[in-house]
Amino acid sequence: MIYTAILGHGTVGSGVAEIMIKHNDRVKDKVREDIAVKYILELRDFSNLTYADKFTKDFEKIVNDREVRIVAEVMGGINPAYDFVKRCLEAGKSVVTSNKELVAAKGAELLKIAAEKNVNFLFEASVGGGIPILRPMAQCLAANDINRVTGILNGTTNYILNKMIVDSMDFDTALSLAKEKGFAEKDPTADIEGHDACRKICILASLAFGKHVYPSEVKTEGISNITLDDVAYAGKFNCAIKLIARAKKLPNGKICADVAPRLVGHDNILSNVDGVFNAIVVRGDATGDVMFYGKGAGKMPTASAVVADIIDCAKHLNARKYFDWQESEEGYVVEDNSKQRFYVLAKSSDFEALDESFNTVFGESTVNIKNCDLGEIAFITDEDYEQNIKEKLKALKYDSIKLIKTLL
Ligand code: HSE
Repeated sequence: MIYTAILGHGTVGSGVAEIMIKHNDRVKDKVREDIAVKYILELRDFSNLTYADKFTKDFEKIVNDREVRIVAEVMGGINPAYDFVKRCLEAGKSVVTSNKELVAAKGAELLKIAAEKNVNFLFEASVGGGIPILRPMAQCLAANDINRVTGILNGTTNYILNKMIVDSMDFDTALSLAKEKGFAEKDPTADIEGHDACRKICILASLAFGKHVYPSEVKTEGISNITLDDVAYAGKFNCAIKLIARAKKLPNGKICADVAPRLVGHDNILSNVDGVFNAIVVRGDATGDVMFYGKGAGKMPTASAVVADIIDCAKHLNARKYFDWQESEEGYVVEDNSKQRFYVLAKSSDFEALDESFNTVFGESTVNIKNCDLGEIAFITDEDYEQNIKEKLKALKYDSIKLIKTLL
Protein backbone atom coordinates (compact mmCIF):
# COMPACT_ATOMS: atom_id res chain seq x y z
CA MET A 1 0.00 0.00 0.00
CA ILE A 2 1.26 3.48 -0.88
CA TYR A 3 -0.01 6.11 1.59
CA THR A 4 -0.49 9.74 0.60
CA ALA A 5 -1.51 12.93 2.39
CA ILE A 6 -3.23 16.04 1.13
CA LEU A 7 -2.35 19.41 2.66
CA GLY A 8 -5.45 21.59 2.24
CA HIS A 9 -9.09 20.92 1.39
CA GLY A 10 -10.05 24.05 -0.53
CA THR A 11 -11.16 24.22 -4.17
CA VAL A 12 -8.28 22.14 -5.55
CA GLY A 13 -7.73 19.98 -2.43
CA SER A 14 -11.34 18.81 -2.36
CA GLY A 15 -11.06 17.89 -6.05
CA VAL A 16 -7.88 15.89 -5.35
CA ALA A 17 -9.59 14.08 -2.43
CA GLU A 18 -12.61 13.37 -4.65
CA ILE A 19 -10.50 11.70 -7.35
CA MET A 20 -8.17 9.88 -4.91
CA ILE A 21 -11.00 8.55 -2.72
CA LYS A 22 -14.14 8.25 -4.89
CA HIS A 23 -12.21 7.11 -7.95
CA ASN A 24 -9.62 5.10 -6.07
CA ASP A 25 -9.99 2.11 -8.42
CA ARG A 26 -9.01 4.28 -11.38
CA VAL A 27 -5.92 5.59 -9.58
CA LYS A 28 -4.97 2.11 -8.31
CA ASP A 29 -5.20 0.71 -11.85
CA LYS A 30 -2.82 3.38 -13.12
CA VAL A 31 -0.31 2.87 -10.27
CA ARG A 32 -0.74 -0.92 -10.35
CA GLU A 33 -0.52 -0.98 -6.58
CA ASP A 34 -2.88 -0.11 -3.72
CA ILE A 35 -2.79 3.60 -2.96
CA ALA A 36 -4.77 5.51 -0.33
CA VAL A 37 -5.12 8.93 1.26
CA LYS A 38 -4.13 8.58 4.91
CA TYR A 39 -4.45 12.22 6.02
CA ILE A 40 -5.98 15.48 4.92
CA LEU A 41 -4.51 18.49 6.72
CA GLU A 42 -7.16 21.17 7.23
CA LEU A 43 -8.13 23.55 10.02
CA ARG A 44 -11.78 23.88 8.98
CA ASP A 45 -14.42 21.38 10.03
CA PHE A 46 -15.45 18.80 7.43
CA SER A 47 -17.02 16.27 9.83
CA ASN A 48 -20.04 15.87 7.51
CA LEU A 49 -17.94 14.20 4.78
CA THR A 50 -17.83 10.42 4.26
CA TYR A 51 -14.04 10.58 4.57
CA ALA A 52 -14.08 12.80 7.70
CA ASP A 53 -11.85 10.30 9.56
CA LYS A 54 -8.86 11.34 7.39
CA PHE A 55 -8.82 14.96 8.56
CA THR A 56 -6.16 16.21 10.94
CA LYS A 57 -5.05 19.64 12.09
CA ASP A 58 -1.60 18.33 13.02
CA PHE A 59 1.10 18.58 10.34
CA GLU A 60 3.65 16.84 12.61
CA LYS A 61 1.58 13.67 12.44
CA ILE A 62 1.97 13.65 8.64
CA VAL A 63 5.63 14.56 8.38
CA ASN A 64 6.60 12.02 11.05
CA ASP A 65 4.55 9.16 9.60
CA ARG A 66 7.04 7.03 7.64
CA GLU A 67 4.19 5.25 5.87
CA VAL A 68 3.28 8.45 4.03
CA ARG A 69 5.43 8.46 0.88
CA ILE A 70 3.70 11.17 -1.19
CA VAL A 71 2.31 14.52 -0.06
CA ALA A 72 0.09 16.80 -2.19
CA GLU A 73 0.37 20.44 -1.15
CA VAL A 74 -2.72 22.32 -2.33
CA MET A 75 -2.93 25.05 0.31
CA GLY A 76 -1.55 27.87 -1.83
CA GLY A 77 0.56 30.82 -0.66
CA ILE A 78 4.11 30.76 0.66
CA ASN A 79 3.45 30.34 4.38
CA PRO A 80 3.14 27.77 5.80
CA ALA A 81 3.29 25.83 2.50
CA TYR A 82 7.04 26.46 2.03
CA ASP A 83 7.93 25.12 5.46
CA PHE A 84 5.62 22.10 5.08
CA VAL A 85 6.91 21.18 1.60
CA LYS A 86 10.54 21.58 2.63
CA ARG A 87 10.09 19.43 5.71
CA CYS A 88 8.27 16.71 3.77
CA LEU A 89 11.06 16.60 1.16
CA GLU A 90 13.71 16.55 3.89
CA ALA A 91 11.81 13.67 5.51
CA GLY A 92 12.21 11.72 2.25
CA LYS A 93 8.67 12.09 0.94
CA SER A 94 7.87 13.02 -2.64
CA VAL A 95 5.81 16.20 -2.92
CA VAL A 96 3.43 17.39 -5.62
CA THR A 97 1.91 20.85 -5.63
CA SER A 98 -0.41 23.18 -7.52
CA ASN A 99 1.15 26.14 -5.72
CA LYS A 100 2.59 28.45 -8.40
CA GLU A 101 3.51 31.13 -5.88
CA LEU A 102 5.67 28.64 -4.00
CA VAL A 103 7.32 27.12 -7.09
CA ALA A 104 8.01 30.54 -8.66
CA ALA A 105 9.61 31.78 -5.42
CA LYS A 106 11.39 28.66 -4.15
CA GLY A 107 11.52 26.18 -7.04
CA ALA A 108 15.32 25.98 -7.40
CA GLU A 109 15.79 25.42 -3.67
CA LEU A 110 13.04 22.78 -3.35
CA LEU A 111 14.22 20.92 -6.47
CA LYS A 112 17.73 20.80 -4.96
CA ILE A 113 16.43 19.30 -1.71
CA ALA A 114 14.37 16.76 -3.67
CA ALA A 115 17.51 15.76 -5.63
CA GLU A 116 19.57 15.42 -2.44
CA LYS A 117 16.91 13.20 -0.88
CA ASN A 118 16.32 11.23 -4.09
CA VAL A 119 12.59 12.00 -4.08
CA ASN A 120 10.38 13.81 -6.56
CA PHE A 121 9.03 17.34 -6.48
CA LEU A 122 6.42 17.72 -9.22
CA PHE A 123 4.14 20.67 -9.97
CA GLU A 124 2.31 20.10 -13.26
CA ALA A 125 -0.84 21.77 -11.83
CA SER A 126 0.99 25.00 -11.07
CA VAL A 127 0.81 26.15 -14.71
CA GLY A 128 -2.20 25.90 -17.01
CA GLY A 129 -4.52 24.01 -14.61
CA GLY A 130 -5.50 20.81 -16.40
CA ILE A 131 -3.23 21.38 -19.44
CA PRO A 132 -0.27 19.01 -19.65
CA ILE A 133 2.56 21.49 -20.26
CA LEU A 134 5.52 21.02 -17.90
CA ARG A 135 5.97 17.32 -18.50
CA PRO A 136 5.61 17.59 -22.32
CA MET A 137 7.96 20.58 -22.38
CA ALA A 138 10.63 18.90 -20.26
CA GLN A 139 10.26 15.45 -21.77
CA CYS A 140 8.68 15.45 -25.24
CA LEU A 141 10.49 18.61 -26.37
CA ALA A 142 13.79 17.61 -24.74
CA ALA A 143 15.57 17.46 -28.10
CA ASN A 144 14.89 21.15 -28.74
CA ASP A 145 16.62 24.33 -27.78
CA ILE A 146 13.54 26.21 -26.56
CA ASN A 147 13.92 29.88 -27.30
CA ARG A 148 10.48 31.34 -26.61
CA VAL A 149 7.36 30.68 -24.53
CA THR A 150 4.25 32.81 -24.99
CA GLY A 151 0.93 32.24 -23.31
CA ILE A 152 -2.40 33.15 -21.87
CA LEU A 153 -1.77 31.82 -18.38
CA ASN A 154 -4.55 33.19 -16.23
CA GLY A 155 -8.08 31.86 -16.55
CA THR A 156 -9.72 34.57 -14.46
CA THR A 157 -8.47 37.51 -16.51
CA ASN A 158 -9.11 35.70 -19.78
CA TYR A 159 -12.66 34.99 -18.61
CA ILE A 160 -13.16 38.65 -17.63
CA LEU A 161 -11.74 40.02 -20.90
CA ASN A 162 -13.85 37.59 -22.89
CA LYS A 163 -17.03 38.63 -21.05
CA MET A 164 -16.16 42.27 -21.76
CA ILE A 165 -15.58 41.52 -25.45
CA VAL A 166 -18.48 39.19 -26.17
CA ASP A 167 -21.17 40.36 -23.70
CA SER A 168 -20.01 43.96 -23.14
CA MET A 169 -20.11 43.01 -19.46
CA ASP A 170 -18.42 45.44 -17.10
CA PHE A 171 -15.22 44.43 -15.33
CA ASP A 172 -16.64 44.03 -11.79
CA THR A 173 -19.58 41.83 -12.83
CA ALA A 174 -17.27 39.60 -14.85
CA LEU A 175 -14.88 39.31 -11.88
CA SER A 176 -17.74 38.30 -9.55
CA LEU A 177 -18.69 35.53 -11.99
CA ALA A 178 -15.06 34.29 -12.16
CA LYS A 179 -14.98 34.17 -8.34
CA GLU A 180 -18.28 32.23 -8.23
CA LYS A 181 -16.88 29.68 -10.66
CA GLY A 182 -13.82 29.06 -8.47
CA PHE A 183 -11.31 30.38 -11.04
CA ALA A 184 -10.02 33.37 -9.08
CA GLU A 185 -7.38 33.33 -6.34
CA LYS A 186 -8.44 33.93 -2.71
CA ASP A 187 -7.25 37.47 -3.26
CA PRO A 188 -8.12 38.13 -6.93
CA THR A 189 -5.66 41.02 -7.03
CA ALA A 190 -3.06 38.38 -7.95
CA ASP A 191 -5.11 37.52 -11.05
CA ILE A 192 -6.11 41.03 -12.07
CA GLU A 193 -2.71 42.66 -11.56
CA GLY A 194 -0.91 39.92 -13.49
CA HIS A 195 1.02 38.38 -10.54
CA ASP A 196 -0.48 34.93 -11.08
CA ALA A 197 0.48 34.94 -14.79
CA CYS A 198 3.90 36.26 -13.79
CA ARG A 199 4.49 33.33 -11.41
CA LYS A 200 3.48 30.89 -14.15
CA ILE A 201 5.75 32.39 -16.81
CA CYS A 202 8.59 32.25 -14.24
CA ILE A 203 8.00 28.51 -13.82
CA LEU A 204 7.81 27.95 -17.58
CA ALA A 205 10.92 30.05 -18.24
CA SER A 206 12.88 28.35 -15.45
CA LEU A 207 12.06 24.92 -16.82
CA ALA A 208 12.51 25.87 -20.48
CA PHE A 209 15.82 27.73 -20.07
CA GLY A 210 17.30 25.85 -17.09
CA LYS A 211 17.82 28.63 -14.52
CA HIS A 212 15.43 30.18 -12.01
CA VAL A 213 13.53 33.25 -13.18
CA TYR A 214 12.11 35.12 -10.16
CA PRO A 215 8.81 37.06 -10.23
CA SER A 216 10.50 40.27 -9.05
CA GLU A 217 12.59 40.24 -12.27
CA VAL A 218 9.57 40.13 -14.59
CA LYS A 219 7.89 43.40 -15.59
CA THR A 220 4.21 42.81 -14.87
CA GLU A 221 1.08 44.76 -15.79
CA GLY A 222 -2.47 43.60 -15.14
CA ILE A 223 -5.83 44.30 -16.76
CA SER A 224 -7.41 46.64 -14.21
CA ASN A 225 -6.81 49.53 -16.60
CA ILE A 226 -8.64 47.95 -19.53
CA THR A 227 -12.06 49.46 -20.28
CA LEU A 228 -14.98 48.48 -22.47
CA ASP A 229 -13.87 51.32 -24.81
CA ASP A 230 -10.42 49.72 -25.27
CA VAL A 231 -12.00 46.36 -25.94
CA ALA A 232 -14.37 47.90 -28.50
CA TYR A 233 -11.58 49.81 -30.29
CA ALA A 234 -9.43 46.68 -30.31
CA GLY A 235 -12.28 44.83 -32.03
CA LYS A 236 -12.45 47.56 -34.69
CA PHE A 237 -8.71 47.04 -35.29
CA ASN A 238 -9.44 43.29 -35.76
CA CYS A 239 -7.83 42.45 -32.45
CA ALA A 240 -8.78 41.06 -29.05
CA ILE A 241 -7.16 42.20 -25.81
CA LYS A 242 -5.47 39.33 -23.95
CA LEU A 243 -3.20 39.17 -20.91
CA ILE A 244 -0.03 37.79 -22.48
CA ALA A 245 2.94 36.36 -20.60
CA ARG A 246 6.17 35.95 -22.57
CA ALA A 247 9.69 34.73 -21.99
CA LYS A 248 12.47 34.50 -24.55
CA LYS A 249 16.12 33.59 -24.65
CA LEU A 250 18.47 36.14 -26.20
CA PRO A 251 21.50 35.10 -28.28
CA ASN A 252 23.77 35.99 -25.31
CA GLY A 253 21.92 33.47 -23.09
CA LYS A 254 20.09 36.12 -21.04
CA ILE A 255 16.33 35.97 -20.60
CA CYS A 256 13.61 38.58 -21.17
CA ALA A 257 10.20 38.04 -19.66
CA ASP A 258 7.11 40.17 -19.17
CA VAL A 259 3.37 40.09 -18.53
CA ALA A 260 1.06 42.70 -20.04
CA PRO A 261 -2.34 43.12 -21.66
CA ARG A 262 -1.80 43.19 -25.42
CA LEU A 263 -3.86 43.67 -28.55
CA VAL A 264 -3.65 40.35 -30.38
CA GLY A 265 -4.63 40.22 -34.07
CA HIS A 266 -7.54 37.96 -35.02
CA ASP A 267 -5.14 36.07 -37.29
CA ASN A 268 -3.14 35.00 -34.20
CA ILE A 269 -4.45 31.76 -32.70
CA LEU A 270 -4.12 33.19 -29.17
CA SER A 271 -6.87 35.72 -29.94
CA ASN A 272 -9.38 32.84 -30.08
CA VAL A 273 -8.52 31.43 -26.66
CA ASP A 274 -11.67 32.32 -24.74
CA GLY A 275 -13.16 32.09 -21.27
CA VAL A 276 -11.23 30.15 -18.65
CA PHE A 277 -9.09 28.47 -21.31
CA ASN A 278 -5.33 28.97 -21.33
CA ALA A 279 -2.93 28.43 -24.20
CA ILE A 280 0.84 28.19 -24.25
CA VAL A 281 2.94 28.36 -27.40
CA VAL A 282 6.43 26.88 -27.00
CA ARG A 283 8.95 27.52 -29.76
CA GLY A 284 11.66 24.90 -30.18
CA ASP A 285 14.45 25.04 -32.75
CA ALA A 286 13.48 21.63 -34.12
CA THR A 287 9.69 21.68 -33.74
CA GLY A 288 8.88 25.34 -34.40
CA ASP A 289 5.76 26.42 -32.51
CA VAL A 290 3.89 23.84 -30.43
CA MET A 291 0.66 24.90 -28.75
CA PHE A 292 -0.89 23.56 -25.54
CA TYR A 293 -4.54 24.42 -24.87
CA GLY A 294 -7.14 23.61 -22.22
CA LYS A 295 -8.88 24.73 -19.05
CA GLY A 296 -6.41 26.77 -17.05
CA ALA A 297 -8.30 27.00 -13.76
CA GLY A 298 -11.08 25.39 -11.76
CA LYS A 299 -11.40 22.57 -9.26
CA MET A 300 -11.40 19.43 -11.38
CA PRO A 301 -9.01 20.44 -14.21
CA THR A 302 -6.40 21.44 -11.62
CA ALA A 303 -7.07 18.37 -9.43
CA SER A 304 -6.57 16.21 -12.54
CA ALA A 305 -3.00 17.50 -12.88
CA VAL A 306 -2.26 17.08 -9.15
CA VAL A 307 -3.47 13.46 -9.15
CA ALA A 308 -1.47 12.71 -12.31
CA ASP A 309 1.64 13.88 -10.41
CA ILE A 310 0.70 11.68 -7.42
CA ILE A 311 0.40 8.73 -9.80
CA ASP A 312 3.75 9.57 -11.38
CA CYS A 313 5.42 9.77 -7.95
CA ALA A 314 3.81 6.47 -6.92
CA LYS A 315 5.21 4.81 -10.04
CA HIS A 316 8.67 6.28 -9.41
CA LEU A 317 9.09 5.91 -5.67
CA ASN A 318 12.73 5.02 -6.01
CA ALA A 319 13.63 6.97 -9.13
CA ARG A 320 13.92 10.67 -9.84
CA LYS A 321 12.03 12.41 -12.62
CA TYR A 322 13.64 14.77 -15.09
CA PHE A 323 12.35 18.09 -13.65
CA ASP A 324 15.23 20.34 -12.76
CA TRP A 325 16.67 23.80 -12.99
CA GLN A 326 19.53 25.65 -11.33
CA GLU A 327 19.80 28.81 -9.29
CA SER A 328 20.36 31.87 -11.54
CA GLU A 329 22.99 34.58 -11.27
CA GLU A 330 22.36 38.32 -10.89
CA GLY A 331 21.55 39.97 -14.23
CA TYR A 332 20.25 36.77 -15.84
CA VAL A 333 16.89 38.41 -16.61
CA VAL A 334 17.08 41.64 -18.62
CA GLU A 335 14.52 44.11 -20.01
CA ASP A 336 13.08 43.46 -23.44
CA ASN A 337 14.27 46.33 -25.63
CA SER A 338 12.92 45.06 -28.92
CA LYS A 339 10.73 47.19 -31.20
CA GLN A 340 6.98 46.73 -30.99
CA ARG A 341 3.68 48.34 -31.97
CA PHE A 342 1.38 50.07 -29.48
CA TYR A 343 -2.33 50.85 -29.31
CA VAL A 344 -2.92 54.43 -28.20
CA LEU A 345 -6.16 56.12 -27.12
CA ALA A 346 -5.83 59.89 -26.85
CA LYS A 347 -8.68 62.10 -25.62
CA SER A 348 -9.05 65.85 -25.64
CA SER A 349 -11.76 68.47 -25.09
CA ASP A 350 -10.17 70.27 -28.06
CA PHE A 351 -10.48 67.63 -30.77
CA GLU A 352 -9.16 69.90 -33.52
CA ALA A 353 -5.90 70.52 -31.68
CA LEU A 354 -5.54 66.79 -30.93
CA ASP A 355 -6.27 65.89 -34.56
CA GLU A 356 -3.83 68.42 -35.95
CA SER A 357 -1.02 67.31 -33.65
CA PHE A 358 -1.79 63.66 -34.45
CA ASN A 359 -1.51 64.33 -38.19
CA THR A 360 1.77 66.17 -37.69
CA VAL A 361 3.37 63.60 -35.38
CA PHE A 362 2.04 60.31 -36.69
CA GLY A 363 0.51 61.20 -40.06
CA GLU A 364 -2.90 60.34 -41.52
CA SER A 365 -1.56 57.04 -42.78
CA THR A 366 -1.15 55.66 -39.24
CA VAL A 367 -3.91 53.08 -38.66
CA ASN A 368 -6.48 55.14 -36.73
CA ILE A 369 -10.09 55.64 -35.72
CA LYS A 370 -11.21 59.21 -35.03
CA ASN A 371 -14.28 60.02 -32.95
CA CYS A 372 -14.78 63.75 -33.19
CA ASP A 373 -17.94 63.73 -30.97
CA LEU A 374 -16.10 62.08 -28.10
CA GLY A 375 -12.85 63.96 -28.79
CA GLU A 376 -10.92 60.70 -29.21
CA ILE A 377 -8.37 59.22 -31.56
CA ALA A 378 -7.45 55.56 -31.22
CA PHE A 379 -4.48 54.38 -33.27
CA ILE A 380 -1.86 51.69 -33.70
CA THR A 381 1.71 52.95 -33.95
CA ASP A 382 4.35 51.66 -36.32
CA GLU A 383 6.92 49.30 -34.86
CA ASP A 384 9.39 51.25 -32.72
CA TYR A 385 11.19 51.27 -29.37
CA GLU A 386 8.89 52.08 -26.43
CA GLN A 387 11.03 55.06 -25.47
CA ASN A 388 10.78 56.56 -28.98
CA ILE A 389 6.99 56.16 -29.03
CA LYS A 390 6.71 57.85 -25.64
CA GLU A 391 8.86 60.74 -26.86
CA LYS A 392 6.65 61.19 -29.93
CA LEU A 393 3.47 61.11 -27.83
CA LYS A 394 4.68 64.10 -25.84
CA ALA A 395 3.95 66.26 -28.91
CA LEU A 396 0.28 65.21 -29.02
CA LYS A 397 -2.23 67.71 -27.64
CA TYR A 398 -4.28 65.47 -25.39
CA ASP A 399 -5.99 65.65 -21.98
CA SER A 400 -5.56 61.95 -21.30
CA ILE A 401 -3.74 59.17 -23.05
CA LYS A 402 -3.49 55.40 -22.76
CA LEU A 403 -0.95 52.98 -24.22
CA ILE A 404 -1.47 49.25 -24.55
CA LYS A 405 1.17 46.93 -25.97
CA THR A 406 0.37 44.68 -28.90
CA LEU A 407 1.42 41.32 -30.23
CA LEU A 408 1.14 42.65 -33.79
N1 HSE B 1 -6.51 32.02 -10.45
C1 HSE B 1 -5.87 31.17 -11.37
C2 HSE B 1 -6.40 31.49 -12.77
C3 HSE B 1 -6.14 29.74 -11.01
O1 HSE B 1 -7.42 32.18 -12.87
O2 HSE B 1 -5.81 31.08 -13.76
C4 HSE B 1 -5.34 28.73 -11.77
O3 HSE B 1 -3.98 28.84 -11.52
